[in-house]
Amino acid sequence: MNIILLGPPGAGKGTQAKRLEQRYRLVQLSTGDMLRAVVASGSTLGRKAKKVMESGQLMPDDLMIQMISDRIEQPDCARGFILDGFPRTTAQAEALDTMLKNKGLKLDSVIEMKVDPEVLVERITGRFSCATCGAGYHDRFQRPKVEGVCDVCGGTEFSRRADDNEETVRARLAAYREQTAPILPYYESQGILRTVDGMTDIDDVARQIETVLAAA
Ligand code: AP5
Ligand code: MG
Repeated sequence: MNIILLGPPGAGKGTQAKRLEQRYRLVQLSTGDMLRAVVASGSTLGRKAKKVMESGQLMPDDLMIQMISDRIEQPDCARGFILDGFPRTTAQAEALDTMLKNKGLKLDSVIEMKVDPEVLVERITGRFSCATCGAGYHDRFQRPKVEGVCDVCGGTEFSRRADDNEETVRARLAAYREQTAPILPYYESQGILRTVDGMTDIDDVARQIETVLAAA
């Protein structure tokens, strides 16, 4: 099963992708996480990515398309994948179709996670993650079970993303509105777009996604 989670910054793509990985044994392909790894490496590309990401703009299409194309070739993707943060432009969506066709693969579902813009800023500015294993949390909506200790790995160090400040979030939301939302009709016309209500709690959104996938 190959699916796309599509939604604005803070919609819950990463949160739900992690659950789907476990539930269906799929692989999460988050271009944001891939880019953050490149930034952490300190390479020339990493320094460029850091600037672009902190401004809330998008990285060039050709680079992102190559990154996903290489990743999909890896053997672990054979059991199916969840695209999280890709495609983000019409050019990326079209390139993905070509790439999948060439590899004899197809998309089963594109799931749009709909969330009102006002709550996105609160979700993003309250987000933090485990510095050891990357598990995601929120100051209000998803606290660790034991204060200061990661539920997943027991780590005690946490970090916040450099682009999770209000100013950058506004720019990221504008990039979503202007460059990413226009790809929704593209998938609608292919008959594979499904929409879930991303405003409900994390467990409920997971249930809605399961229902969509059961019917796919
Ligand atoms: P990326 O890392 O993809 O960031 P994003 O799209 O802005 O999305 P987020 O990761 O912020 O949100 P999310 O939907 O994953 O929400 P989460 O589950 O964490 O991209 C970062 C940057 O990289 C881009 O700005 C761009 O520069 C570059 N980039 C990446 N891909 C690119 C591409 N393809 N092309 C070009 N450039 C690219 O949830 C958010 C918070 O809310 C969490 O704290 C969570 O606990 C909480 N939460 C989740 N669900 C709920 C719920 N239902 N109720 C209450 N709280 C919830
Ligand atoms: Mg994410």
